[in-house]
Amino acid sequence: MSLSTPLTLHRPLVVVMVGLPARGKTYIARKLGWYLNWLGYQAQVFNVGNYRRDRFGAQVPASFFDPDNDEGLANRKKAAVAALQDMLAWIRSGGQIGIYDATNSTHARRQMVREQCEKAGASVLFIETLCDNPDIIEANIRQTKLSAPDYHNVDPQEAVADFRRRIAHYERAYEPINEPDVSMVQLVEVDHKVIAQRLNGYVEGRIAHFVMNLHITPRTIWLTRHGESTANVAGVVGTDMPLTSRGSEYAERLKVFLDERTGPEVSIWTSTLQRSIQTAGKLGRPTLPLKVIDEIDAGICDGMSYAQIEEQMPNEFARRKADKLTYRYPRGESYEDVIGRLDPVIVELERQRDPVMVVGHQAILRALYGY
Ligand code: SIN
Repeated sequence: MSLSTPLTLHRPLVVVMVGLPARGKTYIARKLGWYLNWLGYQAQVFNVGNYRRDRFGAQVPASFFDPDNDEGLANRKKAAVAALQDMLAWIRSGGQIGIYDATNSTHARRQMVREQCEKAGASVLFIETLCDNPDIIEANIRQTKLSAPDYHNVDPQEAVADFRRRIAHYERAYEPINEPDVSMVQLVEVDHKVIAQRLNGYVEGRIAHFVMNLHITPRTIWLTRHGESTANVAGVVGTDMPLTSRGSEYAERLKVFLDERTGPEVSIWTSTLQRSIQTAGKLGRPTLPLKVIDEIDAGICDGMSYAQIEEQMPNEFARRKADKLTYRYPRGESYEDVIGRLDPVIVELERQRDPVMVVGHQAILRALYGY
């Protein structure tokens, strides 16, 4: 792993999701997978529901999940074990962080998963989502379950009723985590209360911090470059130059775009560079300048054109062309460095409930868009 993340993993990690259906486990697991990949870790989600759908069909009746249904129980265990074995094989072949997305709703199941992971040399972190708020559960069912293959071509009302029956089966057998010796993050009512227990090291702490900032309220995020600057016209990288008249026109049109789509509640984030501040200044709303959004630092190449860099520093030019992600400008930054410093921006974007517009720069937007 060659990333700007300051500390690496000493051993593989398995994040084990725990919780009743419609508590946001899959949403959290997917987001966590994207986030960890974006930071440079080899991370992959293994979803037991997909294994169940592959083996036993997507549209099984709610009784399949009845804890008194021996056949259903055995088949569900088969799906869980198949996903676990695939994940551990992936870890043995070099995977760093496996995310095991399943209900894992009993002590016995969690004990089995933990033993297998530890036998494969992986640490285990449980993330449990607890939620009794009927509004959140209802929103979750409607946002995610109705579009799942389980309910393809099923009347929405019947789908919701069936899913509630499925939840009721799980509820009868559910045992919340109370094992005192496990590493765990418990999220109660999404972000209402967070309990962290026995977190080991930097990566587990970082995961805990990320997941406690997630929520499921949909919102729009716009990423835009600043308007054209005099440095763009001159064809040079970096510097801190003002907008051209075309750049100002872009900003004016951006305001029209924004006015057509949202009111005053949008948050507008800029860098601390003139071209970003001037663009956002024309949007008629408060703006928040953030140093972490400043363009990639081109070091000793700041103010040079690409043609000049190629002519005067052919080795640097070739190294950058070969691998833009890891290449670091002499006394400047690489894209990986940029990703490292944008980590808090991602967490803040996740926390937002109102629309956000980021008036950024090319490398910054590429990195954010990568997430
Ligand atoms: C599912 O089959 O959809 C979920 C299986 C489970 O983790 O209980």
